[in-house]
Amino acid sequence: MDARDLLRSVRTAGSADGWRATASAWRRQRTDARDLPRRGTERARVPGAAQEAESLPGGGRVRFARSVLRVRVAVGGAVFCSWDGADPDPSYALADGRPEADLRAVLEPDKDGWRVVSERVTVLVSPHGAVEIRTPGGVLLRRELPPRWWEPTGGAPGAGSRWVQRSETPADARVYGLGGRAVGPRLPAGGYRLWNTDPDGSFEPGDDPLYITMPVQLVVADAGCHLIFHDSTWDGRVTLRDGEEGAGSGHDRPGGSELRMDGGPLRYWVITGTPSRVLNRWTALTGRPALPPRWALGHHHSRWGFGSEREVRRVVAGYREHGLPLSALHLDIDHFDGHKVFTVDKRHFPDLPGLAAELADEGIRTVSIVDPAVKAEPGVPVYDSGTREAAFVKDARGQEVHGVVWPGTAAFPDFTDPQVRSWWGRLYAERLDQGFAGFWHDMNEPVSFASFGENTLPRSARHSLEGRGGDHREAHNVYGLAMARAGYEGLRELRPEQRPFLFSRSGWAGMQRYGGTWSGDVATGWSGLRASLALVIGLGLCGVPYSGPDVGGFTGSPSPELYLRWFQMAAYLPFFRTHSAITAGRREPWEFGPEVLEHARAALTERMRLLPYLESLAHIAHRTGAPYVRPLWWNAPGDRALRENGDAFLLGDALLVAPVLEPGSVTRAVRLPRGLWYDTATGRGHRGPGQVLLDAPLGRIPVLARAGSLLPVTGADGATELEVWAPRLGRAGGGVVLTGDPDGWESARMERFTTRWAGGEVVVERDGADSAEPVGYRVRVRGSAS
Ligand code: GLC
Repeated sequence: MDARDLLRSVRTAGSADGWRATASAWRRQRTDARDLPRRGTERARVPGAAQEAESLPGGGRVRFARSVLRVRVAVGGAVFCSWDGADPDPSYALADGRPEADLRAVLEPDKDGWRVVSERVTVLVSPHGAVEIRTPGGVLLRRELPPRWWEPTGGAPGAGSRWVQRSETPADARVYGLGGRAVGPRLPAGGYRLWNTDPDGSFEPGDDPLYITMPVQLVVADAGCHLIFHDSTWDGRVTLRDGEEGAGSGHDRPGGSELRMDGGPLRYWVITGTPSRVLNRWTALTGRPALPPRWALGHHHSRWGFGSEREVRRVVAGYREHGLPLSALHLDIDHFDGHKVFTVDKRHFPDLPGLAAELADEGIRTVSIVDPAVKAEPGVPVYDSGTREAAFVKDARGQEVHGVVWPGTAAFPDFTDPQVRSWWGRLYAERLDQGFAGFWHDMNEPVSFASFGENTLPRSARHSLEGRGGDHREAHNVYGLAMARAGYEGLRELRPEQRPFLFSRSGWAGMQRYGGTWSGDVATGWSGLRASLALVIGLGLCGVPYSGPDVGGFTGSPSPELYLRWFQMAAYLPFFRTHSAITAGRREPWEFGPEVLEHARAALTERMRLLPYLESLAHIAHRTGAPYVRPLWWNAPGDRALRENGDAFLLGDALLVAPVLEPGSVTRAVRLPRGLWYDTATGRGHRGPGQVLLDAPLGRIPVLARAGSLLPVTGADGATELEVWAPRLGRAGGGVVLTGDPDGWESARMERFTTRWAGGEVVVERDGADSAEPVGYRVRVRGSAS
């Protein structure tokens, strides 16, 4: 027990839950001591010298003295490399199994090694097993050094081996991603763990890991961008090292990373190209982001502890009376009977379907929390039916593994079992009957409260892993992902005509197929505000575009200023939700005085005005993987200053948002990418690249529009109109509008528009239409060209 553990055990001791958490922690420790395979003597192994090579579809195979390397380029340019014969599947990340090999790519001898040349990337293999990823022009993007394994002496090489893979990147390279992290989005040098974790209480910058970890790195350098994904779900650690440039001496020290994994196959995918191409290919491989229903792009209000229907009505009435639009109202665990999932506290919520219908009449959807842990007590219907289905995780002796979560002693469905997923998916029928329209998966790292040690299941707990069999060391990181799949597929069966709305606290590579996520329990404070932005941008670069923070922070009481600044930032993020802990202060916009109320209303009104634009961005994310929220370097990865930036973001192609992240600030220094940008509040143009100082009074945060951009917005009469920002003189611009089924499956309609100067004014034309034809929307031109 270390000091932090001790503190936790003291804090939780004394209450019934505390004693349970202590007992459960002991149980976990005992189970692992008994059942985890012991690590005996180990033997280290490196590939050794190359012996022979053969060509295979998409690349080939190089046999080394003690391992074999497979290189396979897929159609579309993604490179798959694996050691020891690992295949691309089975994989929890891949959407539809392995993509086809690019038959034009072949392995051929090259100097003293081999190379695979393909249209977009060249892969070089050295005689000792280093793998280089180069641009077609030959510029180095990444060098993976020969790996090293440690395996039990006498044992065969396999998933039980630990391994380390070191790599080098150009000295100027910057790394993003690794899932949802509290720092960044440019990840500073240092260590990052790959083990989904509830930080226990709340988190702020410096807390690592958090709920979603992914072995996904997006690397940006002058030479080009690439994404690398090491497809192993096991616990691991990434250590990033910044490079150093030799100031023209030609002696750069490369940047790099070291990945240490506790097990799993050593296989990875590399995708090269522009950021948008990389995200496009990445989401082609791991699945396109689910398209949220239109209502999910509005404002959501949540709280742990509304406590009763009456309180829900009071809050909703507050929104109505203050003229604040509301799209969804979320109910947390306090509406369950004794915190039991798929139940209702009938005393405080006597008529949930009635309440849901009443809110639906006002255009407000209800969203329900769903926790995986099931109260382990005979007579609890979900527990009884789960027991009948043999749905719960067991230990090596076949005993159900019990932990402690909100309902008390609890069992955990094994979502890595397809039958368990379909049983669980059917349970959502009860939620639909209660009138819920959307679902919020929580505590699915999974959490089991513990007064010491890790707050999750024993590592030796058994899992189906799609019938292959294995333990929690392999299943842990995909527990939330597999639960999301269960919920998503269940909802598709139960309510086939509607797109599911689902977001999940934990997940892994590929989770975007089923829905989005949110920040989790971000600490209330200015540093929490900053952390929540880093997290949203970083997740978007891992292929998970729909997320947002708990506005105002999860804990305590934000100052009116902090609340407002958080609200203003989140109004431009995909998932815009106020939420807080049961012990936290109020979060309704009218609770912070008339000035905050007025400014929050302005932010909300602007959010609703931008809804058609957000809907277009949702469709674009769904079709191409490009996140709604992008780092400033998205279109200019060569701009080094932008790579370091963590205090602003692009919302689609048109807008740049610079939230206020410090107390007392009424101005903001904003770094602009190349081009002409209009301050949307004043209409004044500013030229990038460079930094400008803009006004950021309490009433608004700086938002700039790119010259030449076009975005659909809601006009005063409710009809969609086109907002056009004048292109620079002599230049052209444009934009796309995508509209579709609000919550069904009909495919969207896409219209492309071009903007240009003609005869001293800005004209808008629909692509493919006769220039005399009306564009079909009212057009408002803003900004004056310069
Ligand atoms: C977790 C969630 C939080 C929720 C609470 C109670 O801490 O992250 O959002 O309110 O559990 O369900």
